[in-house]
Amino acid sequence: MLEGKHVLLGITGGIAAYKSAEIASRLRKLGAEISVVMTEAATKFITPLTMRSVSAGPVFTDMFSEPKKWNVEHISLAEAADFVLVAPASANTLAKMALGLADNFLTTVLLAVRAPIFVAPAMNHAMYHHPATQQNLRILKERGVHIIGPDSGFQACGSEGDGRMSEPSHIVEVIENYFRNSGIMRGEKVLVTAGGTREMLDPVRYLGNLSSGKMGYAIAQAFAEAGAEVTLVTAPTSLTPPPGVKTVHVVSAREMQEEILKVFDEQDIVIKAAAVADYRPAVFQEQKIKKSGQGFTLELVQNPDILQSLGERKTHQFIVGFAAETQNVIENAQAKMRKKKTDMLVVNDVTAEGAGFGSDTNIVSILFPDGRRVDLPQMNKLDIAKKLVEIIAETKQKKQKE
Ligand code: CTP
Repeated sequence: MLEGKHVLLGITGGIAAYKSAEIASRLRKLGAEISVVMTEAATKFITPLTMRSVSAGPVFTDMFSEPKKWNVEHISLAEAADFVLVAPASANTLAKMALGLADNFLTTVLLAVRAPIFVAPAMNHAMYHHPATQQNLRILKERGVHIIGPDSGFQACGSEGDGRMSEPSHIVEVIENYFRNSGIMRGEKVLVTAGGTREMLDPVRYLGNLSSGKMGYAIAQAFAEAGAEVTLVTAPTSLTPPPGVKTVHVVSAREMQEEILKVFDEQDIVIKAAAVADYRPAVFQEQKIKKSGQGFTLELVQNPDILQSLGERKTHQFIVGFAAETQNVIENAQAKMRKKKTDMLVVNDVTAEGAGFGSDTNIVSILFPDGRRVDLPQMNKLDIAKKLVEIIAETKQKKQKE
């Protein structure tokens, strides 16, 4: 998976730095070429000689050690990297990254890097939970930095808590997972919908649903990471759109349909993860509705079924529908797939524990028009999204051969 990939391994000062040798060794066994950058503090915990021996690559510790070359070096190192891993990442270095400081060789390189960055935080639990550290991690995450861990357990300071660096095997596994789908969606235009639409009743009230948008956002992220050009049409959510994704914000089902139709013809794959309201109020009241002291009957009219209209309009597009069910899950979903003419349908029982709206995990089955069915175990939504990328790539390839 990592054969020939150039890794920049950053090591900062922390007792977990002794585990960096194992990380380097594991990356090397997977075929990665490693350059190591250590902060001065890191060299107090593990020697550059150890890192040079296990990584079989150059080790940089000081920005000014080669005065004629350093200027070129930090930029060329940044440009050559296929990915960067900072492990351990101290609270101090994370704070510098969040601010964009460049006061040593590592932070200078990090500022110039355009490749994916992974960090494995390691620190005392009080430092980890400090609002400043939490905010820095949030900022980095929003910027697209992948945060691995930390774990919880016994700490070098003698206490127990969150902040232990993740195990080297886990860190390397996360990176391998990231590159598993690398490039398999290059050249594909993918439209993803997410979130729950809102149907306004008056200026302050709406009919909505419990969709959090997490599944759709994870799908957009997984396709972007696999190299696709992704457009995300999203109903309101509290989530930050993944980096590298063109995002269009909508509120109602009809707005969602309008935005989809603007770009549908040029798409190769359309994934309808959004929970679209089937009905909207017959009349939008321009002014806030006042209570009358009596009951209130609301008249609703049906919304267009966006997915069904796409199924009828499609030319070359591969269309994936979602189905949220609460009973007769598979039978209902199969009927939906036939009616809406999708090429694949992802179904989840939204009442099951560990599945459905708002949850970080989901349990889905994937149905195909030829009767094939894949049942996935409970997984986090990003892992499900990655699996969908793989399955869609395979299915499209098979279809092209037919
Ligand atoms: N969908 C849509 N437009 C609608 C309703 C649903 O595009 N007006 C899409 C959803 O995005 C999803 C799929 O259709 O991909 C199934 O949505 P779901 O809510 O499970 O089913 P419905 O068709 O609304 O059927 P029902 O509510 O009767 O179960």
